[in-house]
Amino acid sequence: MEGLKVHSSLKTVEWKNNKVVMIDQTKLPNRLEFVEFSDFRQVADAIKNLVVRGAPAIGVSGAFGMALAVLQSNAQTKDNLIKDLEEAKKILIETRPTAVNLKWGLEKIMGVALKGSDVSEIKKLVIDTAKKMADDDVQTNMTMGKLGSELFDDNDVILTHCNAGALATVAYGTALGVIRAAKESGKKVKVIATETRPVQQGSRLTAFELKHDGIDVSLIPDTAVGYSMAKGLVNKVIVGADRILRTGHVFNKIGTYQVATMAKQHGIPFYVAAPLSTFDMKSNPEDVVIEQRKGSEVTGIGENKTAPDDINVINPAFDMTPPQLITGIITEKGVAKPPYEESIKKLFEAN
Ligand code: MRU
Repeated sequence: MEGLKVHSSLKTVEWKNNKVVMIDQTKLPNRLEFVEFSDFRQVADAIKNLVVRGAPAIGVSGAFGMALAVLQSNAQTKDNLIKDLEEAKKILIETRPTAVNLKWGLEKIMGVALKGSDVSEIKKLVIDTAKKMADDDVQTNMTMGKLGSELFDDNDVILTHCNAGALATVAYGTALGVIRAAKESGKKVKVIATETRPVQQGSRLTAFELKHDGIDVSLIPDTAVGYSMAKGLVNKVIVGADRILRTGHVFNKIGTYQVATMAKQHGIPFYVAAPLSTFDMKSNPEDVVIEQRKGSEVTGIGENKTAPDDINVINPAFDMTPPQLITGIITEKGVAKPPYEESIKKLFEAN
């Protein structure tokens, strides 16, 4: 773990020697371990079990899963290879329903595969495209960081929820990328990270990666958001997103809606940072499937049981923050401000 520079020298997910290599995030912050996969089904399991998580990171992992699938296929004809890819896509897409980046990544690869004329061309196109998607992710985050950092001032104390950092992307991060860029531009900023129960992406991942980058971070329990805002300990909020609709409705880690509501109550600007690949311009709020995760995430912390046996549990992984609570949405193409239907449309027209 010593010397870990999560945002620069290490990649959350990477293509190496025809294999997918990723940091096993279930082991953080206690151990920095890498896992290596040569079967797309292993990638699907890794996404499902949160070995890799965060919307952009699972988008790229899905694309790498498809790259493994072309290598695994024995198909001799284009039609058979496309069939194998469709099968892999089905297995990969079923892993997590809410973050739209996964669908985006898989569809992008299918689109490229369909354009290939024969088996060897398709294999090359798929692998090259997946690798390019990983490289583009880092560039996108850095551009978004630079644009977003202008909204932050010297001495800001910024609250963030969950992990929208290097570990949720290939590197650098979305919301934490903006914070990194603010610091790199010479502004002194401090971060308050929520613990983010039940899976604790805030304490295990955000606190970990910011601490390793020398960014001042304090950890709070999720229940201290209201206290921190009421006491004037926070003056801006920034989070990432798993899916943003054309109306500006933002789906993100469970608890984001509470943070946004509390920010509104205290007149604190609430920003979202996400690439255009996180936007779903077709769905309405009621169409979005919120992933429901297993009860054991709530009835215990790690191996320790913290609830009685056989208790009923409701464990949604995401919630929806309505546009009226959001001050601005930072993307690599600019910052969308209310009214979002108009400003988001403009970002896509400029793309
Ligand atoms: O369940 P997770 O850990 O995949 O949830 C992640 C989040 O909700 C992040 O905030 C979101 O994906 C943005 S990541 C840049």
